[in-house]
Amino acid sequence: MEKKELMERVEELNNLLHKYGEAYYVQDKPLVTDAIYDAYMQELLTIESEFPDLVYPDSPTQRVGGEILSGYGKVTHEFPMLSLSNAFNEEELRDFDRRVQALAGDKVSYVCELKIDGLAISLRYVDGKFVQGATRGDGTVGEDITANLKTIRTIPLQLKEPISIEVRGEAYMPKNAFVQLNENRDEAGEEPFANPRNAAAGSLRQLDPKIAASRNLAIFVYGIAGDGTEYGIDSHSDALDYLDRLHFATNQERQRCATIDEVIEYVEKWIEIRSDLDYEIDGIVIKVDLFEDQEQLGFTARSPRWATAFKFPAEEVVTKLIDIELSVGRTGVVTPTAILEPVLVDGSTVGRASLHNEDLIKEKDIRIGDTVVIRKAGDIIPEVVAPVIEERTDDEQPFEMPRNCPACDSELIRIEGEVAVRCVNPKCPAQMKEAIIHFVSRNAMNIEGIGERVAEQLYEANLVHDVSDLYILTKEQLVELERMGEKSVSNLLTAIENSKENSLEKVLFGLGIRHVGEKAARILAEEFGSLEALIKADTEKLISIHEIGEKVADSLITYFANEEVLEVLRKLESYGLNLLYKGLTRQDVPADSVFSGKTVVLTGKLSILTRGEAKSKIEALGGKVSGSVSKKTDLVIAGEDAGSKLARAEELEITVWNEAQLIEALDKKESAV
Ligand code: IVH
Repeated sequence: MEKKELMERVEELNNLLHKYGEAYYVQDKPLVTDAIYDAYMQELLTIESEFPDLVYPDSPTQRVGGEILSGYGKVTHEFPMLSLSNAFNEEELRDFDRRVQALAGDKVSYVCELKIDGLAISLRYVDGKFVQGATRGDGTVGEDITANLKTIRTIPLQLKEPISIEVRGEAYMPKNAFVQLNENRDEAGEEPFANPRNAAAGSLRQLDPKIAASRNLAIFVYGIAGDGTEYGIDSHSDALDYLDRLHFATNQERQRCATIDEVIEYVEKWIEIRSDLDYEIDGIVIKVDLFEDQEQLGFTARSPRWATAFKFPAEEVVTKLIDIELSVGRTGVVTPTAILEPVLVDGSTVGRASLHNEDLIKEKDIRIGDTVVIRKAGDIIPEVVAPVIEERTDDEQPFEMPRNCPACDSELIRIEGEVAVRCVNPKCPAQMKEAIIHFVSRNAMNIEGIGERVAEQLYEANLVHDVSDLYILTKEQLVELERMGEKSVSNLLTAIENSKENSLEKVLFGLGIRHVGEKAARILAEEFGSLEALIKADTEKLISIHEIGEKVADSLITYFANEEVLEVLRKLESYGLNLLYKGLTRQDVPADSVFSGKTVVLTGKLSILTRGEAKSKIEALGGKVSGSVSKKTDLVIAGEDAGSKLARAEELEITVWNEAQLIEALDKKESAV
């Protein structure tokens, strides 16, 4: 074929595939069979692979994901991507209506839409071609994820008309795609996504567009950025109809409502039936319809006054309680967990829920085999609300807390006045496993590659009995473990090796000493500088530290008095683990410098020091560097072009220095220290 003919054929194939793809994915009305579609796609792919200059940016082949990116560019939104105010009940919806009527009159009508639980996306078209897609980011600057968005079949790459337009919408993952994805991940030994929103966001933040392409994402477009009037439309409902005509996927459940009573009716209906949808929604968005009215209402700094989001109450779902499992935590506390028939609650699959403790189970009379109501408490942890007594069949089993530890069989202890039941055997395997998981966790030693499963394997294979054993693991031992490939082994060994360089506070936190959380670990590391010095400290010395109380002090004394603990620590040291604090210890920081105990704000452009240098030098002299000027600020360092922070400092009559004055003060102190 001549090049000219080829070009024509490519154009033809592009058009056909766009048309067929849209009919299939957007309208759900296929025009041709899959085989025909695939044949055209194959033909186009073949030509494109031979003539890369014929790959148009909006070619349907781009749907399968192009090249791997090295990172994302930034996109400054021409029109900011705002958020919405919230309403949580009928009363707040009526308040919203009153505010609207006060500013725009009593003739306003609304459009109600489903609030899709995904992530906000902006799509830019020039002359009818999709040129750029971005995330919301901070509302002003987002990330360019064009390559990933092109893989979403419901995003048109070419519009019906050669217009330039920017549209906004929500990218999401349908429930069935989410369930399927998590099943696959589980099989592959990968962490499942907590909910469809995270799954969608995770998929769109991949640098390899092929991954996004494999994830079955979709989009609903819900508006035009900027002033819609230039397209000859004057209301939000017209805008949505117009977007339909351009063959964008808009959500068809929208409804115009003439009064707030109609809005409330719509909201109530969707509270009831939202779980029937095959995608997640987390509320209803209510928008004033006429652009003219919207203009009257305007915006606050964060959100339009002409719209609000009704947020659904926490969803309660009924499922079956199959069993009650006992787990032994790091500190020996035995916690009952409900094993449930998996259900979707507020967007996440829930298969387990906390039952807190024995007393609570008795109080609520929860039995194994019960049909139970569950809900998400505080947004994340699901809990069992109550059994559904009417569903009882008499086959349900009341729950009895065992007298012995489910992991090591030693007798369980219930401390007076506490609801928790504990295993106090220090060698209990369950506690050891948890101790390993805690030691490697991100905020402790941050050894990637050891999760629940690997920790269990390491323990069961007799490779790791205490945390020091991690440092003598060998490649030969690890490759023997199930589902451990060469690559994961070498990554894991590198992660373990690197962790030896961690600063003392990470080790201290990782050891899991009772009452020593991240903050206490840091304070202790700062104060003592080395593990050796900390071990030598007596109670008096410990409680003399401002932020350390008696509970922590007692716990440390008991911990370091244990010969087995000391043995583990000696081993850690002999394997080359750093046991020194790498920051500045409190002794290093002078108590009497100009900056001691002072809060300093840096603003404007510094020309000699970088911001980072200035900050660490001030901190080394006992100062605190803060980001904003307030009454608590002691000193402001104003570089060139200092703006509002300087003005605020002057207003509050706070001492202001220039960079030269700062350097002079630092120099003086540096030579004195
Ligand atoms: S309108 C000016 N409509 O909810 C505000 N937003 O805080 C424009 N969302 O992340 C938003 N479904 O992405 C609008 N039908 C819908 C929506 C919707 C979901 C998201 C939006 C944003 C958040 C609003």
